[in-house]
Amino acid sequence: MSKNFRVLASVALAASLAATSACSNTRDEEASSGSSSNLIGIAMPQKSLERWNKDGSHLDEILKKAGYETSLQHADSVEQQITQIQNMINQNPKVLVVASIDGTALAPALEKAAEKKVKVIAYDRLINSTPNVDFYATFDNYLVGKLQGQFIEEKLGLKDGKGPFNLEAFAGSADDNNAKFFFSGAWDVLKPYIDSGKLVVPSGKKPATNEEWTTVSVQGWKTETAQSEMDNRLNSFYTGGKKVNVVLSPNDSLALGIAQSLESKGYKPGADYPIITGQDADLANTKNVLADKQSMTVWKDTRTLGDQVLKMVDAIVKGGTVETNDTKTYNNGVKVVPSYLLPPVVVTKDDVKTKLVDSGFYTADKLGL
Ligand code: BGC
Repeated sequence: MSKNFRVLASVALAASLAATSACSNTRDEEASSGSSSNLIGIAMPQKSLERWNKDGSHLDEILKKAGYETSLQHADSVEQQITQIQNMINQNPKVLVVASIDGTALAPALEKAAEKKVKVIAYDRLINSTPNVDFYATFDNYLVGKLQGQFIEEKLGLKDGKGPFNLEAFAGSADDNNAKFFFSGAWDVLKPYIDSGKLVVPSGKKPATNEEWTTVSVQGWKTETAQSEMDNRLNSFYTGGKKVNVVLSPNDSLALGIAQSLESKGYKPGADYPIITGQDADLANTKNVLADKQSMTVWKDTRTLGDQVLKMVDAIVKGGTVETNDTKTYNNGVKVVPSYLLPPVVVTKDDVKTKLVDSGFYTADKLGL
């Protein structure tokens, strides 16, 4: 990882932990939306990924409750998302909230938004290579990966010199700006143990630097792709009784495929079952955590992200101050986008109830508790 990135990432961490000492961006009248409507456009990625389903409906619900009209659209492809955004801009919304499929493909569409003075909030994923993104609301993405790396470090006793252990590593979709932050956060913790021989990677799929993370990425965050990749690695490199001890998975959609692959190769929950990380606290994965088929998930309470975006929308529309707490980390290639970073939380079997049920994220019933 470049020094720069590491410095930026640690700034991100500090910023996310700094409670509410938010800096601010005062909106000037010039820049305010030219629209007289009350419409907020919400562009979300694939409905098939549980996360975006939940995020979309929560945001839609709270914006409506706050008195806005909304247009909520999910897209399955970059092209579809661009068309949806163009259509929304034609309706003159006050604000456009965009969770991009491809963080680098929206620049031309957003030029039109700027012409019409529609403010743009990047939701969860940064939009790159354009000046026309005004704010960014997300979780501390580097910290997500760091929590996964630290979990592995602690569970295996790596700090106490234990090892060697067999590790397989995966990264998220190459077109998602978040994926490199997740990988870097984890790899900064794990790579030194690979270098010292305490973590061994039988498949050889071990990026030499954080910048090479796309060599282990899974396009579109697809469960099936992660499953077949894990199948291939197990078939080719885990012969003669060799066992995988730990799998770095950046999120739950990949972790699900990885667990399915392990199961099909005869791995059973218990002492020989590998540590598997995840992110999102998806329903199937939370059940897997309870069933000892996944070791942890990094929970990002997407309700709080929605609430933060509602505050941003209100400030933009009503002419207040948009609260941000990080103005250094998220450079989109054209500018540093003022961001609000929320803190992610590790959930293991022991605290599914206290963290996910008591907070109302899931009912006990839904988890079979
Ligand atoms: C999100 C993750 C999610 C992944 C796949 C990322 O941009 O931050 O929470 O697991 O996309 O949907």
